[in-house]
Amino acid sequence: MVKSLVIGANGQIGTDLVEGLVDIYGIENVVASDIRESKLPVDIAFEQIDVLDTDALKKAIVAHDIDEVYLLAALLSATGEKKPLFAWELNMQGLLNILELAKEGVIKKIFWPSSIAVFGPTTPREHTPQVTIMEPSTVYGISKLAGERWCEYYHNKYGVDVRSIRYPGLISYKAEPGGGTTDYAVDIFHKAIKEGKYTCYLKEDTYLPMMYMDDAIHATISLMQSPSSSIKVRSSYNVSGISFSPAEIAAEVAKLVPDFIIDYEIDFRQSIADSWPKSIDDDIAKDQWGWSNKTDLATMSKKMIEGLRELKQEHH
Ligand code: SER
Repeated sequence: MVKSLVIGANGQIGTDLVEGLVDIYGIENVVASDIRESKLPVDIAFEQIDVLDTDALKKAIVAHDIDEVYLLAALLSATGEKKPLFAWELNMQGLLNILELAKEGVIKKIFWPSSIAVFGPTTPREHTPQVTIMEPSTVYGISKLAGERWCEYYHNKYGVDVRSIRYPGLISYKAEPGGGTTDYAVDIFHKAIKEGKYTCYLKEDTYLPMMYMDDAIHATISLMQSPSSSIKVRSSYNVSGISFSPAEIAAEVAKLVPDFIIDYEIDFRQSIADSWPKSIDDDIAKDQWGWSNKTDLATMSKKMIEGLRELKQEHH
C-alpha cells in the first residue's frame, strides 16, 4: 500500500485531494498537513508544518513512513504579486526541500502542481502547445516555470520520480480558492447563492482555461498511478478542461439562479489574465497517460450550485 502526505491540505485542491486519496487508499494511508490548523475531519492524521521548516518536514515524513508527497503549499498569482519575494521563497524553497528528500531516498514519488501561469504575453494564446515560448510576467508564473525546470533536473540528474500538471483555473465548492486570478469563476457561485449578483474583476470577454475539481483530482491521481515509463514529460503536462469567459459562466449561473446579475469592476488581475492562454492543447497528456476531461461548463455549474446549497444546509 502507498502512503501519501498532502502538504497544503486545507487549501482548495488539498481539501478535495485528501478525500480522493482516502477513497482510494484508505484513511490510514493518507496524512494531511498544513501551516494552519486542520480543517479536515478529525480522523485523518494531521501534521501542522511549515514547508520551509526542513527538519519538521523530514521528521513527519519519516515518522509516518510516507512514500508519496503531494506538495500543494504555494502563493498563487494574485497574492504573489503583493508579496513577490515571499512567493518566490515559499514556492521555490518548498519544492527544493521535497526534491532533496526524494534525492536522499526518504520519499519515492512527488506530485507538484505547475500552472497555466508559466505562459506569458509572447506565448501563442489559442490551443497553447506543450512546448512553446514561455515568458511569464507574474512572480507566481516565474516560480512555476523555474520549478518545472528543477523537477526535470532532479529527474534527469538524480532519478527523482516527480510528476506535474499545469493546472488551469480550478473550480470547486468544498474549499475556497487561495488568491488566484481565476478565483472569480468560484466566487461567482458563492455570491450568486448569497446575494443574487456578482461584481467581476475581469472583463466579460476574458477567456481562460478552467477545469472542474473532480477532473483535476482524477488527472492528479491517474498521473501518479501511471507507470513511470509512460511519464515522458518531467517538467509538467498541459491539461485542458473547459475555456469560458465571465459572460459565458454568468449565463450558465443565470439559468440556475433566477434573476442573477453580473457587473464589472476591473482590477489588476485583468493584466494577469491577459498574459495567459485562452485554451490549452493537451494531446501529449492524452497520448502518454490517457488523460481526458469529463465535465463541461453546464454540468460544472449545476454541480457547483447543488454542492454549495448542500453545504449551506449542513451548516444550518
Ligand atoms: N488558479 C491559478 C491562479 O489564478 C492559476 O494557476 O493563480
